Amino acid sequence: MTFPTSGCKQQTQHGIAALLLAWYDAHHRDLPWRVPPRALARGVRPDPYRVWLSEVMLQQTTVEAVKAYFRAFLDKWPTVEALAAAPNDDVMKAWAGLGYYSRARNLKACADLVAARGGLFPDTEDGLRALPGIGPYTAAAIAAIAFDRPAAVVDGNVERVVSRLFSIETPLPEAKAEIRAQVERLVPGERPGDFAQATMDLGATICSPRRPRCMLCPLRQDCSALANGDPERLPVRGAKPEKPLRRGAAFVAVRGDGAVLLRKRPEKGLLGGMSEVPTTGWTARVDGETGADAAPFPAGWRHAGRIGHVFTHFSLELEVYHAAAVGAAPEDHFWSGPEGVLGEALPTVMKKAIELAIPGATKKRAQAKGKA
Ligand code: ADE
Repeated sequence: MTFPTSGCKQQTQHGIAALLLAWYDAHHRDLPWRVPPRALARGVRPDPYRVWLSEVMLQQTTVEAVKAYFRAFLDKWPTVEALAAAPNDDVMKAWAGLGYYSRARNLKACADLVAARGGLFPDTEDGLRALPGIGPYTAAAIAAIAFDRPAAVVDGNVERVVSRLFSIETPLPEAKAEIRAQVERLVPGERPGDFAQATMDLGATICSPRRPRCMLCPLRQDCSALANGDPERLPVRGAKPEKPLRRGAAFVAVRGDGAVLLRKRPEKGLLGGMSEVPTTGWTARVDGETGADAAPFPAGWRHAGRIGHVFTHFSLELEVYHAAAVGAAPEDHFWSGPEGVLGEALPTVMKKAIELAIPGATKKRAQAKGKA
């Protein structure tokens, strides 16, 4: 079968997959969770645990941000059984800073289930989708990369490549079904795992959102958007609704020895199971509580400034207050320290608040080198 294209060389779907795979052989990214191209042909199988862990981390996070977390997780928990044996709090602490914390809770729940099956991940999309935290995209990615199943793996990079290749003018997200149908037709019977990673790499390194490097693209002869002269215009996106703004106040109480007062958020809901400094509720009302009088207990609260953070469904502005405090922690609170809060399961928004009140508190101190 050939694809209808406007003004460019027509290529069979086998031809497109072959071009992409040849490009991937020469130009793939070296990533810590990846086996090199053609590994299967040499009898090297990707470790499903590493593939699963990386794909869950990559769900809403960039490759660059994931690398260090992936290495740290593997150092701590080299197998799915080791992860299953870890306390929940340790997993939340190791995940702190990656965001979308329900992923960490599901990661642990999934590890528990897989460990109970003898450490074997299911090797089909349907089997994988039945596990916690594994949606259609992640199931397809694991099935293709770990088990070489001919699954259609469609992330944002792939959407961009395909909407340009076929000049898909339908705006996203409506275009998703059309894009998926094209990917399903392109997936080759041989090396589908490499094909999935090749498409992602092409989107990440060549077919970039702005200023795509079309002269280096293995599909430049076949790309309808390039033939039409403006690949950067695609994919078309529907207007994003503006995020509502919420406000609140955060209270950073510090003991004489440097310990910071924290509490744990409820397991369910936003930032569930993570730690935080005491805060007011986060309200959309302009007259919501954002002053020192909303503090959980009286102290010499001083305004340290304001921090902003963007969540998926709203933006948040927190007024940050700082006070020296003494005595026992109030009920449901605990003193973290005195070494500081580095090892706590603190989401980025809380690190920002603490950092504003106590500069340097959430940063790793440089190790002293050599003799004093
Ligand atoms: N983004 C999500 N999964 C990926 C993978 N396996 N390789 C590169 N980028 C990715």
